[in-house]
Amino acid sequence: MNTHHVLGALVLLVSSASSLAVETTGIPQDQVKERNAFIADLMKKMTIDEKIGQLNLVTVGPDYQKEAIMADIRAGKVGGVFNTVTKPDIRRMQDQVKESRLKIPPFYAYDVVHGQRTIFPISLGLAASWDMQAVATSARISALETAADGLNMTFSPMVDITRDPRWGRVSEGFGEDTYLTSRLAHEMVTGYQGKDPSAPDAVMANVKHYALYGAVEGGREYNTVDMSPTRMFNDYMPPYKAAVDAGAGGVMIALNSVNGIPATSNTWLLKDILRDDWQFKGLTVSDHGAIGGLVKHGVAEDDRQAAAMALKAGVDMDMADNMYGKYLKGLLADGLVSQQDIDRAVRDVLAAKWDMGLFVDEYRHLGPQSSDPADTNAESRLHRPEAREVARTSLVLLKNTNQTLPLQKKGTIAVIGPLADSKRDVMGSWSAAGKAAQAVTVLQGMKDVLGDKGTLLYARGANITNDQGMVDFLNSYDKQVINDPRKPQDMIDEAVKTAEKSDVVVAVVGEAQGMAHEASSRSDISIPQSQRDLLKALKATGKPLVIVLMNGRPLTLTWENDISDAMLETWFSGTEGGHAIADVLFGDYNPSGKLPMTFPRSVGQIPLYNSVLNTGRPFNPQHPDKYTTRYFDITNGPLFPFGYGLSYTSFSVSDVSLSSTTMDAKNPLTASVTVKNTGKVSGATIVQLYLQDVTASISRPVKELKNFEKINLQPGEEKVVTFTVNERDLRFYNDKLKWASEPGKFNVFVGLDSQDVKKTSFLLK
Ligand code: BGC
Repeated sequence: MNTHHVLGALVLLVSSASSLAVETTGIPQDQVKERNAFIADLMKKMTIDEKIGQLNLVTVGPDYQKEAIMADIRAGKVGGVFNTVTKPDIRRMQDQVKESRLKIPPFYAYDVVHGQRTIFPISLGLAASWDMQAVATSARISALETAADGLNMTFSPMVDITRDPRWGRVSEGFGEDTYLTSRLAHEMVTGYQGKDPSAPDAVMANVKHYALYGAVEGGREYNTVDMSPTRMFNDYMPPYKAAVDAGAGGVMIALNSVNGIPATSNTWLLKDILRDDWQFKGLTVSDHGAIGGLVKHGVAEDDRQAAAMALKAGVDMDMADNMYGKYLKGLLADGLVSQQDIDRAVRDVLAAKWDMGLFVDEYRHLGPQSSDPADTNAESRLHRPEAREVARTSLVLLKNTNQTLPLQKKGTIAVIGPLADSKRDVMGSWSAAGKAAQAVTVLQGMKDVLGDKGTLLYARGANITNDQGMVDFLNSYDKQVINDPRKPQDMIDEAVKTAEKSDVVVAVVGEAQGMAHEASSRSDISIPQSQRDLLKALKATGKPLVIVLMNGRPLTLTWENDISDAMLETWFSGTEGGHAIADVLFGDYNPSGKLPMTFPRSVGQIPLYNSVLNTGRPFNPQHPDKYTTRYFDITNGPLFPFGYGLSYTSFSVSDVSLSSTTMDAKNPLTASVTVKNTGKVSGATIVQLYLQDVTASISRPVKELKNFEKINLQPGEEKVVTFTVNERDLRFYNDKLKWASEPGKFNVFVGLDSQDVKKTSFLLK
């Protein structure tokens, strides 16, 4: 089979696209030589079985238990282990290394996506903060806690751009935008790895899922991806490259195919782009069982051929299906893979271990036994203040009429809804080793913040869903959703009585965390009917209604927006989520989060996102015309646009002033606005810069995010925010996949969301 994509020749023209000239992480260049010499020497001593053993990334499970893994470590058959997460467990495994012939330690990895013991907001929530400091804090603390558990690697960050909220994994990524996600990719990698991934408090980052997993057709999990090369390079690839440029030690290969060829056997992706063009020197790992998946994709006849294809395409390690272990030796004997193919992969694995410091001290992260915590889940191991602070930055105020929020700290407040007191859900999916018992729910957070100043009443009001099929699905791997056995109407009646006794109702509704996870695509992204019935009954009480949303994807909220007085988007906000939400509800913290993904009015509008290309018949809301691009049965445009989010104060933004109306490669220009806090309380906001290349050789987005800055303003205070625009910011991949700018007119937009902007323009000479 020819895995060389038709675009293989074009890729040679693809130049570096990172505009993030910031610090990276990785081992110092002068150590590379020393490392390579060490590895060359070690490899001379290795048998073919020992080499193949290094390519085996194993997971603990019912079919492969700890004792069996330990025996395989002694036999030199294990390169890395994942899903073992406590120091004592890892130490027991690591102690086996002494009994192996060459004493090459495995590394220990885990899916630490938004925290290890202390859980931070889900990635989509982190993205909603647009706060690089907060994101860096979350990654740094994740690394500290991960390393403190004896682990060396995280399968994170997940930087798949996605414009389809039906896909459950939108919760795990940073949303729809290329620029925002690229900035976050950089922060996450440098946060995890620190200056040097071998530091005892650092872990190696393994960026995923390369490539384009977020573009699965119809948002259906594991589905096909088919995409034009210009969209691929302009919109979807930059975040992976940003992670690679930041020094990510590993890249995980996606489960999907890309234009017909599975990523796992895609030489074009893995060699031509990743290695040759991007100069990635680290480790590649397959996703779970993806090598065997090549047979099901229909590109390999059997597992044996799949193993050969993956290795030859450039997949170094085989995650969880032992295809390399089973077949590589025979494939080598039959000449179907070469010694060089195997050696190349082994070299990458050993280099990653060298970079993690494991050849200097294989107990690098474990430390001495005396350092093992007496209680792995001890409170003292958590970072609660940081989690609360980061979670506050992630909350997005979607609506606030009549200053319903902040709530006054007095009177009686009804807290209602199936998510109001759910410890498991507030943590979100992929919550690593976090313990739900340690999470603060909204109800608890409100109790703590209100103290004895007022009265809180609670009623569950509804189950997440009354659809038993959905409950069974969500509980098919572990018991996640526990329904209250009472009749739905009885629960609603109780909630209404509670509401009637109160001054204001806070309804905490949305999705169970498992509804926004791997393998949880939805065809309907509304709040389940059971909860909508509850909201309707609460609305009928006439009490002010505050909807607190907990969800891992954009939802369709047109009706909820109509009936509520205020709406706060809280995602799944982690261990300290309840406190952070209470801080915002009671006004101890003024929200500043902005949506990292467009919220559509209806599922039928998907995909709906900010940086669309223009069409030959654009829709103009001022002059709606039949023969323009639109749906005739719904208001055009999103319910809440990308970059949107309110504050308890108000801001004014001046017109944009440019330092010059022309620029060239040598002379960048600046675009400035004056932002003023025109309200009564201090607050932060995110000032956003968008650009449009008005006429180019290919159609360019009508408004592309190119920079942003978070600012804090006291009441009455104003600040000038200045963005530098240079020629690199104007480059894009053209139809020859050449990354270059084109002279002509550019529009500049600055605002506090993607729609409400001030506009001007300049010429690139
Ligand atoms: C997921 C990856 C994850 C891996 C290991 C796979 O099913 O797609 O994101 O890292 O499992 O848990």
